[in-house]
Amino acid sequence: MNPSYRGNPQAVRNLVRADRVHRDLYISEEIFTLEQEHFFSNTWNYLGHESQIPLAGDYITTELAGQPLLLVRQADGSVRVLKNRCAHKGARLVICPAGSAGKYLRCPYHAWVYRIDGSLQSVPLKKGYEGTSLYECEAGQGLAVIQHVHLYRGFIFAKLNDAGADFQTYFADSLSSIDNMADRSPQGELEVVGPPLRFTHNCNWKMFVENLNDTMHPMVVHESSAGTAKSMWAGQPADAVKPMAIEQFLPFMSDYKFFEDMGVRVFDNGHSFTGVNFSIHSNYSGIPEYEAAMQAAHGAQRTAQILGMARHNTVYYPNLTIKGAIQTIRVVKPLAVDRTVVESWTFRLKGAPPLLLQRTAMYNRLINSPFSVVGHDDLYAYRSIQTGLHAGGNEWVSLHRNYDPAEIDRHDQVTVGTSELPMRNQYRTWVNYMTATM
Ligand code: FES
Ligand SMILES: [Fe+2]
Repeated sequence: MNPSYRGNPQAVRNLVRADRVHRDLYISEEIFTLEQEHFFSNTWNYLGHESQIPLAGDYITTELAGQPLLLVRQADGSVRVLKNRCAHKGARLVICPAGSAGKYLRCPYHAWVYRIDGSLQSVPLKKGYEGTSLYECEAGQGLAVIQHVHLYRGFIFAKLNDAGADFQTYFADSLSSIDNMADRSPQGELEVVGPPLRFTHNCNWKMFVENLNDTMHPMVVHESSAGTAKSMWAGQPADAVKPMAIEQFLPFMSDYKFFEDMGVRVFDNGHSFTGVNFSIHSNYSGIPEYEAAMQAAHGAQRTAQILGMARHNTVYYPNLTIKGAIQTIRVVKPLAVDRTVVESWTFRLKGAPPLLLQRTAMYNRLINSPFSVVGHDDLYAYRSIQTGLHAGGNEWVSLHRNYDPAEIDRHDQVTVGTSELPMRNQYRTWVNYMTATM
């Protein structure tokens, strides 16, 4: 393959078959560029959490589809998403990842000043613009405002283009995983703690997102890390209290049957979660003080329901993956066709005892950080795919496991946890949103 994909939606469609995908999805620089222009602009993406900008004027910067963005808390409490691009000559208005603007944003180049809603407040030496059409032009309108923004339980999502489904239709029942993560707080609210752990992956972003619901790899890839922890713990009496790290490492070495029985649920638009019935997080030791706080807030029955739901990874396709049961999220930021930053954020359950936060921070360091031995197991696999795909002779990546032609017409389905259905579902979504505006 490898025709020119620009302006050729049929060539892009040919890359995704019902049970396999072409390697150009992962290695073509042209496809990467087109993804930024179309796919990431047509889908809903996670930008940040509202606890990062609690006060009017607080901001965070991020990027989506290769475009710099600025999220600012407004005086009325709403959150506005602006293009982080000065209306004058295009300088990035704010460089810092987070901070407070007070009431105004001032460009560091020629000092044009904007209100925090993005409108233009003033320019130096105003009389130089008298008689010009500045205020009728784009520049005079101030910063570009993103129209499609939605907050859900504190999670801020945006879509850059008008194309594509509205927020509720796009995520539908998959939002139950975010609900469960927030419901685990006695106050029903989450709070980001500290900056994220940033881990650069030398691979295409899709390999990481696919892997989140790939349950055929842990017992193989993580034998070196989790397997070592398991052998270190072997021989301990059955009632020995497991250190937190051992408790978090060991489930990665569960057998095929465990992951198969765990189950996977797949939604329209690429979303899915493993752990329908139980997960690697189900058997963490109880924290009586926390359970008491939950019961006081929610009652015994509702508490059992909330804590009994211990989903593994939920993929909010394309850029957010969450683990509600351990209160971490990972956000995917594609930099190049073979370079992706994965940010792992730690959340605090408001009203919960400090041990919960310790457990989350421990998990993020152990499993998700650039210093993690588990994370490097996965990275090794992704990098070897990124180079291996350049081999000729077979240009296709197999997604055949448990493929059933009837699945294409089904919505919201549950199946065995080891199925490759979540990946097939991701690529069907990918091709739809990618070609929608081509
Ligand atoms: S580029 Fe911002 S004021 Fe000139
Ligand atoms: Fe893994």
